[in-house]
Amino acid sequence: MAFYSQDLVEEIRSASDIVDVVSGYVKLQKKGSNYVGVCPFHNDKNPSMSVNQPRQIYHCFSCGAGGDVFRFVMEYENLSFPEALKVLADRAGISLPEQDTSREDKKQADLKAQILMLNKLAAKYYYYMLRRPEGKSGYDYLTGRQLSKETMSRFGLGYAARLGGLYQYLKSQGYSDGLLKESGLMQVDEKRGMYDKFRNRVMFPIMDIHNRVIGFGGRVMGDGKPKYLNSPETRIFDKSRNLYGLNLARLSRKPNIIVCEGYMDVIAMHQAGFNQAVASLGTAFTVQQSAILKRYTNEVLLTYDSDEAGIKAAMRAIPILREAGLTAKVIHMDPYKDPDEFIKAEGAEAFQKRMDEAEGSFFFELEVIKRKYDFGDPESKTNFFKEVSAKLLEYEAGIERNTYIEAAASRYGLPAGELARMVSRTGEKLGGMAAKPAPVRPRSRSRSTEEEKGLRSQRLLISWMSSDEKMLGIILKYVEPEDFTDPLCRRMAGLLAGQRSEGRLNPAALFQYFTEEEEQKKVAAMLSGALPALSGKEEEEKALQETILRVKQASIAWQMEHMDPNDAESLSKIVQKRREIEKLHISLD
Ligand code: UTP
Ligand code: MN
Repeated sequence: MAFYSQDLVEEIRSASDIVDVVSGYVKLQKKGSNYVGVCPFHNDKNPSMSVNQPRQIYHCFSCGAGGDVFRFVMEYENLSFPEALKVLADRAGISLPEQDTSREDKKQADLKAQILMLNKLAAKYYYYMLRRPEGKSGYDYLTGRQLSKETMSRFGLGYAARLGGLYQYLKSQGYSDGLLKESGLMQVDEKRGMYDKFRNRVMFPIMDIHNRVIGFGGRVMGDGKPKYLNSPETRIFDKSRNLYGLNLARLSRKPNIIVCEGYMDVIAMHQAGFNQAVASLGTAFTVQQSAILKRYTNEVLLTYDSDEAGIKAAMRAIPILREAGLTAKVIHMDPYKDPDEFIKAEGAEAFQKRMDEAEGSFFFELEVIKRKYDFGDPESKTNFFKEVSAKLLEYEAGIERNTYIEAAASRYGLPAGELARMVSRTGEKLGGMAAKPAPVRPRSRSRSTEEEKGLRSQRLLISWMSSDEKMLGIILKYVEPEDFTDPLCRRMAGLLAGQRSEGRLNPAALFQYFTEEEEQKKVAAMLSGALPALSGKEEEEKALQETILRVKQASIAWQMEHMDPNDAESLSKIVQKRREIEKLHISLD
C-alpha cells in the first residue's frame, strides 16, 4: 500500500470539489441544497444519485453506492485509492512527492496502466488492419457471417494478419520485450523468440464496463483449431469478473440481461436489436459474474447452446444466479445450435417470441432431471420425485418452497401433500445440512420496530452532527460516542468528536477510516440522511431533543440487557443516567 500523508490527502480533497469532479462524469442538476443526477453505477433513468456539496459526499438512494470524491473516482474509473488520488492530484495540479508512493506499488500501477495501453494500441492496430486491403479475408469472413459495417465498428472488430505484425509495431512505439510479455499479446519461443500470439484471425476485443480493452478473442476464418484463441489472464484481465458485451448491455435499458456462450452470439443478438446480451467468455459462469449482473438487472435469460454441453452449463449457472437473487429463465434455441444461428435462420421477431416463451429455470431443471428417469416404471418415477425433493430444498422453507412444491406436484401429477412429505423426509435425511432454513424471525414484532427506530435515531443524529460545526458542538454537549449502540454509528460519533476537538468538521474525510466499500456505502447513506424540515429554533430544539432522548434510551436499554444483574455499581450508574435523561433539556443557544 502506498502511503500518503493525511495533509496531502486533505489538500487534494479540498482542491477537488465533489460537484465539479462528478460533473465531469455525470450531468448534475441543482435541487434544493443538493445536486442530483443519474447514478452511473447501476442502470437507471431517474436521478437517484445526490451529491451533497457542503459535506462533499455522494450517495445513490437506489443502488446504495456512495462515498467521498476519492471513492467516486475509484468506482467510476475502476481504480485503486492511490490511483484515484493521482488522478485528482493531476486534475488539481498538485504534484505527488515521489517518496509518498512505495516503489513496488507505483510499479504495479504503472504496469497495469501500460498493459492497458498496449491492449488499446493492439485493438487500434487490428481494427485498422481489418479495414485495409491486407485485411480483406477477415472483412469477407465477417461479412459472410452477416455482420454489418456498423456492427463491426460497434464491437471494434479487427484482423490479425497471417504474419502478425503487432510485435514490430509495438516495438517501434518503444515498448520493451519485458512489458510485451506481460501483455498476453505475445508468445515466446526459445527458437523463434517473441512473436504475435494472434495470427490470421478475426479479432474480438474484450472490454470492461468502462470500455477499456482488457483482452482479445481471435477466431480462425474457417475450420482450423483452436476455433477461438483467447488472451490469457493478465494483471488487467480476470475472466471470472468480466462478461463480454457488458459495456454495451449495461446501457441497454432493457428489463433483463441475456447471457449466452459466445462472442458471435452476443454480436448477432445486438445487431438484431437485443442489445442486452452478454457472454461468459467461454468459461463456466461464476459467482462474481452473477454479482455483477445483479447490479444491472433482476432477471437473466439464459441462452446457452442447445447441445449437451450447453445444457450442462445452464444447469450449473442456474443455482448461481438464484443464489445472487436473480430470476433466471431459459430461452430455447432448438432446432438451432445457438442464438446466432437462430437469428440468421428465423430473424429477430421469432427470437423475440422465444424470449417471451422462455421457461422458468425451475422447470427447466426438472425437465433436464426427468430425462434420466422412466415414468412408465413406478420405481424410477419415485426416484425422480426424490431428486426433485432435493432440488426443492434449495428454496427457502416457507411460502417460496411451498409454491414450488405445488407447481411441481401439479405438473407431474402427484398430490402436493405427498410431495411436501417427501421434501421434508429428504430434508431430514440430509440432516438439514443442505436444506435452507426459513429466515430467523425477530423475537417479536414490537421489539424489532423499537430497535429499528433506535437505529434510525442514531443515524439521524450522526447526520445532524455532520451538518455543521456549531451543531456538532451543541450535540456533543449532550451526547457521547458511547451513547450509540450501533457500532458504526459509535465509530462515526467518535471520529466526529475527534474532528471537533481539532477544530475542523470535515465529513468527507471520515471515509478514509472505512476502507471496505460496503462500509463506505453505509457511511455515505448515513451522512446523506435527510434532516427533518424544521422552521424555527423552537421546533429544531424539540426535534433534536426527541432524537437525543431516543438515542440515550436505546443506550440504556442496551446496557440493562447486557448488565450483570448482581453488579450494583452498574445498576446505580444506569439509574443515574435515567435521571439525567429526565432532566435533559436541549438548548440551541
Ligand atoms: P462455440 O464453439 O459454441 O462457438 O463456443 P460459437 O460461439 O458458436 O462460435 P462460432 O459461431 O462458430 O463463431 C462458444 C464460445 O466458447 C469459447 C468462445 O468464447 C466461444 O465464443 N471458445 C470456443 C473458446 O474460447 N475457444 C474455442 O476453441 C471454442
Ligand atoms: Mn455459433
